[in-house]
Amino acid sequence: MPSLLPYNTFGIDVQAERIISIASPDEVKQFLDEKPITPPLILGGGSNMLFCQDVKETVLLNRIFGRELLSSSQDSVTVAIGGGENWHEIVLWTLQQGWYGLENLSLIPGTVGAAPIQNIGAYGVELKDNFIGLEAIDLNSGEDLYFDKTSMAFGYRDSIFKHSLKGKALITKVYFHLSLIPHINTSYGMIQKVLETVGIDQPSPIDVSNAIIFIRKSKLPDPAQMGNSGSFFKNPDLDAVFVQEKLLPQYPKMPFFSSQPGKLKIPAGWLIDQCGWKGKCLGNAGCYEKQALVLVNMGGASGSEIWELAKSIQASVEKKFGIQLEPEVNLY
Ligand code: EPU
Repeated sequence: MPSLLPYNTFGIDVQAERIISIASPDEVKQFLDEKPITPPLILGGGSNMLFCQDVKETVLLNRIFGRELLSSSQDSVTVAIGGGENWHEIVLWTLQQGWYGLENLSLIPGTVGAAPIQNIGAYGVELKDNFIGLEAIDLNSGEDLYFDKTSMAFGYRDSIFKHSLKGKALITKVYFHLSLIPHINTSYGMIQKVLETVGIDQPSPIDVSNAIIFIRKSKLPDPAQMGNSGSFFKNPDLDAVFVQEKLLPQYPKMPFFSSQPGKLKIPAGWLIDQCGWKGKCLGNAGCYEKQALVLVNMGGASGSEIWELAKSIQASVEKKFGIQLEPEVNLY
């Protein structure tokens, strides 16, 4: 059986029944014509998956490419991008064309087709902010599907593809709305500081992208060097009264930010850090020394080893703060 080692950024060596690279919507339909008994497992960049066991299904690698300018107006464009395209390459390509909006999402690993599934987000921007719709193929019926922004039910690292449509459709094409006029968003974290250091006070979207690439490279491990899948847990979104009345009096230095009315989000990285996990290992699984929210493969780790570390971290955070951390990563 072929190994999935080259196809997941955690670098876990599990095997799959069969691995097929899919280059077009027709190839998905050809596969479905074989009438597979179990639905296939779809992989894009494998950057949000933790494999704890061999895969019994056929794995379809989404390698559907294509970049099209569909329409343009005085101040915006609509583009269609193949689901198998590499996310970061597309971000750079749109910026080179002078089409703005994706710059804050620079250097996020993975593919365009996977991006809407968990509504990828970073530095104050989420995929949904530039999303129009997507095309997909129903893996049961072979039918063509279209989802607009409303029917995607986007949330924080969330969409309908993590619930009722989980594993049920392959995303072939994503439509984005991009601006010809820069709308610079440097309010989050270190961006402003990094730009100031290099003497830029009127940044272009490309400057913002470069600053974010610099920040991400300094804080997040490169999967090619150290297996990981970015943030392992979601930042918990808690009842604001609980945070203000129970947590803050006890932990006045705890960072928090408002997410939606009546709720406050606490950085899971801070909670894990406070529990003393940062830079610690359990077997071959590690809690990254520069960002506690990232779990890393120290070399030859199994998925179960990473998951054991994740469970120990969850237990510590629950014990100290009474907060349950929810994985952002998909477990298999
Ligand atoms: N913090 C610590 N210790 C740590 C890590 C973080 O004290 O080890 C504190 C930081 O000092 C800061 C706060 O926690 O006050 C937030 O940290 P950071 O700005 O690094 O962001 P994050 O909340 O940990 C989120 C996303 C990242 C995204 C960054 C930047 C989630 C689950 N993660 O991380 O997304 O890149 O913000 O926008 O929402 C991903 O999803 O894979 C991912 C990397």
